[in-house]
Amino acid sequence: MSILDFKKEELEYLFQEAENILRDPTKYREVLRGKILATAFFEPSTRTRLSFQSAILRLGGSYLDLGELEKSSIAKGENIADTIRMLDSYADIIVIRHKLEGAAKFAAEIAENPVINAGDGRKHHPTQAMLDMFTVKRLKNRIDGLTYGVLGDLKYGRAAASFILALSIFSPKKIYLISPGLLRAREDVTSILRERGISFEEVENPGEVIGELDVLYVTRIQRERFPDPSEYEKVKGSYIVDLKLLRNAREDLIVLHPLPRVDEIALEVDGTRYAKYFEQARLGVPLRMALLKLILEG
Ligand code: CP
Repeated sequence: MSILDFKKEELEYLFQEAENILRDPTKYREVLRGKILATAFFEPSTRTRLSFQSAILRLGGSYLDLGELEKSSIAKGENIADTIRMLDSYADIIVIRHKLEGAAKFAAEIAENPVINAGDGRKHHPTQAMLDMFTVKRLKNRIDGLTYGVLGDLKYGRAAASFILALSIFSPKKIYLISPGLLRAREDVTSILRERGISFEEVENPGEVIGELDVLYVTRIQRERFPDPSEYEKVKGSYIVDLKLLRNAREDLIVLHPLPRVDEIALEVDGTRYAKYFEQARLGVPLRMALLKLILEG
């Protein structure tokens, strides 16, 4: 349900399994033969839905997709509880995304099979945080002791919140929370950093800190979650990570983004050594393969 459900050792075990899969994927082609994954996405998705589907296929299993909501019986008024009961009887594991916070937890209470939260409102996106940490580990050889910048919509962005919470499980040197005043990180996130003694600072100008960062995690302003469109108008386009900003970056800075990107990373950055966001999305498949294997094998 949340990245905070995991201990550091459990995440490290998961990363090791994902690493083993990357090293020799053919060895894992049959491990989930006969298992069925159900994907139920009540909000749009490209990466999370397709990478879970790719992951189960690469492990020898198969998947059912609830598909477009207008073509399911939800369009006839069926409630989420009954929908989950059906998926639970047709599949061995359910991956759900919903705009309501707590929807995945509700589904897990109804289903007998395991349920994975693929995003609930602005709250949690735990498997994104897992693949983000796995990417840092692979590219920097460690997660601890690094300086991180998390930039963008820290108020409504669930990927940003889960990334920050994931860092609290490790021992970062420092986290800079970079956002406009209106989109500062939520208290439920910063209170965890305080409780766990993680050094962090809130700043508005990325130019002030770019030279200190090992990892810059950029996020999209979540237009769809603003209750008031005029609030969105005030902050849209607040940040653009471009070559000018990166001029002062460390040589070995890596720039991550959970994607989709709108305009917060200029296209000119894609061809630079800093850009690691497509590699990050690619690693979603082995990471989710490892997760499915560990859950379904018991
Ligand atoms: N990062 C992420 O959750 O992407 P999708 O919305 O495309 O699944």
